[in-house]
Amino acid sequence: MRLLNEKGFNEMTRFLCRKCRYTSSIDKYFWKCPKCGHPLDLVYDIEWTPKGRGVLRYTSLLPIKPLKTLGEGNTPTVGEEFNSVKIYFKLEYLNPSGSFKDRGTVIALSYARQLGYNRVLEDTSGNTGVSIALYAVAYGLKATIVMPSYAPEGKKKLIRLFNGEIIETPTRSDAAKKVIEILKEKPSYFYVAHTWSPFYVEGYKTIAYELYEDDIYVDAVIAPIGSGGLFIGLYRGFKDLMELGLIKDIPLMVGVQGVSVAPVYSAVTGKSVSGDSSLADGVMVANPPRLNEIVSIIRENGCITVVDNVDIVEALKWLLSKGYIVEPTSAIALAGLWKLLNSKECSIGGKVLIPLTGSGLKMFNEIYNAILIRS
Ligand SMILES: Cc1ncc(COP(=O)(O)O)c(C=O)c1O
Repeated sequence: MRLLNEKGFNEMTRFLCRKCRYTSSIDKYFWKCPKCGHPLDLVYDIEWTPKGRGVLRYTSLLPIKPLKTLGEGNTPTVGEEFNSVKIYFKLEYLNPSGSFKDRGTVIALSYARQLGYNRVLEDTSGNTGVSIALYAVAYGLKATIVMPSYAPEGKKKLIRLFNGEIIETPTRSDAAKKVIEILKEKPSYFYVAHTWSPFYVEGYKTIAYELYEDDIYVDAVIAPIGSGGLFIGLYRGFKDLMELGLIKDIPLMVGVQGVSVAPVYSAVTGKSVSGDSSLADGVMVANPPRLNEIVSIIRENGCITVVDNVDIVEALKWLLSKGYIVEPTSAIALAGLWKLLNSKECSIGGKVLIPLTGSGLKMFNEIYNAILIRS
């Protein structure tokens, strides 16, 4: 049986760098490998003994026990038909802060709190900042969020409502640089680093577990890729289920990026792309730290495509017409499915899972304008 220590950490959990094999206990935090700078993973034994609700239900499959739940996870899955494809939409935008990020934040901030940190620091395009500010206020932590000035106003206002401090930068890449400067001056801050963090990847695995418990088996998973944390988490969740003998195969793993910033697409296909996908601001990650892992998942059993603003608006309009209030970044997965159904790049059919990742309610002004301008 797995044992939890007094902090709620699985006693076996260790950091592991898969590049240089550095390993250490999780009693001291590193946001990346202290020896070679590669992203770290968490290794621990898992057991299939779900109990309770939401993310907390899967404590026996997680590195640490969430400290206090705000109701994250346990999202509904709703079926839709499109041509001959049965699409299962997992309504991740119904999480407490309106995005799937809460599944990772609940674990990362529980860990920060248990280690005795007072302030968390993060760079974000928006949703992770809202999620972190929300859990920080609930856990009695302070939050400093560094984000581009063009991020949706609704997201910035929510962060302020949760008492988060916001530092604005000209671009998303500047935000990533700025947090490193801040960290040098204030090493006592807990830098969440969600694009690197193994805690987020582990939290996202619970989406696959919930699907299994809902008795839904899909042929393919289609997900937006920014840093790729969601994509890797979904893959690892299905891999756990397979290793536990609960499912037979891992679904085809299909990634979708925007044409403006498509490092994974270029790495897999060797092609560069151009065009405008600025509406999908949540996936504009130019240098995903876990790029190699994403590429190897796709090469093993998956494919990737790219979409632009025209595709995104079409998919967003369709989703709204069916009653799903999501943000443009979420709509790229559906736009990607439509694109692949009309191409020979990847054979998709049967049953497909699309996580609807973020709520449109945090940026309905921007969505309203985008749709009006383009109709
Ligand atoms: C709504 C939404 N969907 C998808 C993603 C991409 O997630 P990841 O960075 O884990 O690939 C993001 C990232 O911010 C997002 O905000």
